[in-house]
Amino acid sequence: MSERKCKVYVTRLLPGPALDMLRASCDVEVNSRDEAISYEELLEKVKGRDGIITLLTDKIDAEVIKAGAQGDPPLRVIANYAVGYDNVDVACATEHSIFVSNTPGVLTNTTADIAWALMFSIARRIPEAERFARAGKFNGWSPTLFLGGDIYGKTLGIVGVGRIGAAVAMRTKGFNMRVLYNDVRHNYEIEKEVGAEKVDMDTLLKESDFISVHVPLMPETRHLIGKRSLSMMKPTAYLINTSRGPVIDEAALAEALKNNVIAGAALDVFEEEPKIHPGLLNLENVIVVPHIASGSVETRSKMAIMAVENVLAVLSGKTPPNAVNRI
Ligand code: DGY
Repeated sequence: MSERKCKVYVTRLLPGPALDMLRASCDVEVNSRDEAISYEELLEKVKGRDGIITLLTDKIDAEVIKAGAQGDPPLRVIANYAVGYDNVDVACATEHSIFVSNTPGVLTNTTADIAWALMFSIARRIPEAERFARAGKFNGWSPTLFLGGDIYGKTLGIVGVGRIGAAVAMRTKGFNMRVLYNDVRHNYEIEKEVGAEKVDMDTLLKESDFISVHVPLMPETRHLIGKRSLSMMKPTAYLINTSRGPVIDEAALAEALKNNVIAGAALDVFEEEPKIHPGLLNLENVIVVPHIASGSVETRSKMAIMAVENVLAVLSGKTPPNAVNRI
């Protein structure tokens, strides 16, 4: 008698060869619509699967986990296609002996690149200037046209120096920047390589010309940057967020940008994604992009391979290489 093929559900079509790798040994169903599946559909689809590959937009709460755990076969692995896994109730998955995995490392440089791209874009007003030129408004060189802020020689404050925050710090080589960071732990590598200084949050807020946020979303980091923090920043400073939207109080940020409390903000992530606070959308001193920080062809393909490898590991009785919980 032939062995049963493991069943895997994938909540969205993923780029690259990963899904074919999975199909080679599993019975795979993929949501092929180019949109996120609804919560109700997810609750149905998770039943009777050995594994699921989920997106950061899928809410994997206790109800979904229980539905998976009670299925036949019961769910054994949730492979999240992201490094962040704040969308998954990991404690509940652990209680039900379900592994949760993420995709760390492969997206570090791609995300650090975009933090820098946003830094350049907001400081040098590139999207604003591009809109102006494209609209046919460029009538000749002017000494005062789209003046922005310099990056070279300035102070960069990094909030959270895990892999991505550290990669952002390392990119200051060549820009002669003072680097400040705030984290619970020392990062001796960036201290050695770029002379980064570990400081308290208030010092970072007061002394930085650019602040780039790289903390995971947890109860302690929700609204880490709000009205009080914004009022401590220099009026010439810029705030960059490529971590998770709720780390910044978006209403307070919109208010601060409207009143020029800070010079600008560049955001890849939003508090109530995909909604963006309406107060941000009519301001010129803000750049918004739709959560694309890890979005290079290479990186998104590698993330998919990593998610698949995590699923395959569990289905062959092993601990997934990128497990975020212990069973
Ligand atoms: C992640 O992996 O957590 C990113 O936000 C995806 O771009």
